[in-house]
Amino acid sequence: MKTNILLLGADGQVGWELRRALLSVGKVTAITRQDCSLTDKAAVSALVASHQPDIIVNAAAYTAVDLAESESEQAYALNRDLPALLGELARQRDILVVDYSTDYVFDGSKSEPYFEHDNTAPANIYGASKLAGLQALQASGCRHLVFRVSWVYSARRGNFIKTILRLAAERDELSIVSDQIGSPTSASLIADVTANCLLLLAAGIGKEGVYHLAPAGQTSWHGLAEEIVRHAQTLDMPLKIKPADIKPTSTSGYPTPAQRPANSVMNTDKLTRTFQLHLPDWQEPLEHLLQEFSANA
Ligand SMILES: NC(=O)c1ccc[n+]([C@@H]2O[C@H](COP(=O)([O-])OP(=O)(O)OC[C@H]3O[C@@H](n4cnc5c(N)ncnc54)[C@H](OP(=O)(O)O)[C@@H]3O)[C@@H](O)[C@H]2O)c1
Repeated sequence: MKTNILLLGADGQVGWELRRALLSVGKVTAITRQDCSLTDKAAVSALVASHQPDIIVNAAAYTAVDLAESESEQAYALNRDLPALLGELARQRDILVVDYSTDYVFDGSKSEPYFEHDNTAPANIYGASKLAGLQALQASGCRHLVFRVSWVYSARRGNFIKTILRLAAERDELSIVSDQIGSPTSASLIADVTANCLLLLAAGIGKEGVYHLAPAGQTSWHGLAEEIVRHAQTLDMPLKIKPADIKPTSTSGYPTPAQRPANSVMNTDKLTRTFQLHLPDWQEPLEHLLQEFSANA
């Protein structure tokens, strides 16, 4: 019998890629905001009751990190209350819930990459709301597979890659923060790893639980901007600047409403060992996406 998958947040960066990647796992019902408001508990309950999924993949979230500081109610409604409800519904029906967490559950003060079991201490409302969601999911007692991801980009929606490409075509110089480090992660990698893990779990390999998911290596936002422009140059994309025109700046010189962790790097040994997976260097999926942008320009 085909595995029945209910995918929430199907128009987001990760959700869009999951529409493709999950096709190898089972029958996917993709739900967007137009299909169901996910803060409407009765509507979500009715959705789950009518679709009777084997797996719910929740890629929906309130992801406006700075806006969350002034819209905490909306952030908690989606990032805490939705996983709490999904956990409750899933436990009653023995559904596996796949959800996504964030590096922002950590305060970034550690000098080494973060492990899954490290102490959480979110520095902003978004991180706190996502942590509350994970805790609610765990407390529900439902079966769950949660991937903690960071610095997500894709071909869809606004993100750092697209912003740098646009600014690099308009300006003579850029100043980018160099004292925050992380692993830029493509939404397609997240979706592919999710699908692989689900297939492996179905085959009796691996284990449900919480995993850090990121490509190998790390960089700063400044290093990422340099890499984008360096590669865009090789593809003859329209640029006014060279990598050397991107100046490093500090977080204190670029104040934002929400505080960001200085260290967002996550150790992925648990994921690679448990599921016997290979994770690429962070530059590889980025190059692939830039080639796609260049081919479609
Ligand atoms: N982006 C990052 O850098 C990052 C970093 C760490 C962790 N994560 C986590 O990774 C997961 C996927 O993130 P993403 O970057 O793919 O997010 P995204 O692009 O912002 O997508 C979120 C999706 O949720 C939907 N949504 C929001 N509020 C809704 C509501 N009330 N009812 C129905 N749908 C609603 C949005 O619908 P619309 O399309 O209509 O707006 C959107 O499609 C999330 O759990 C996020 O917290 C992301």
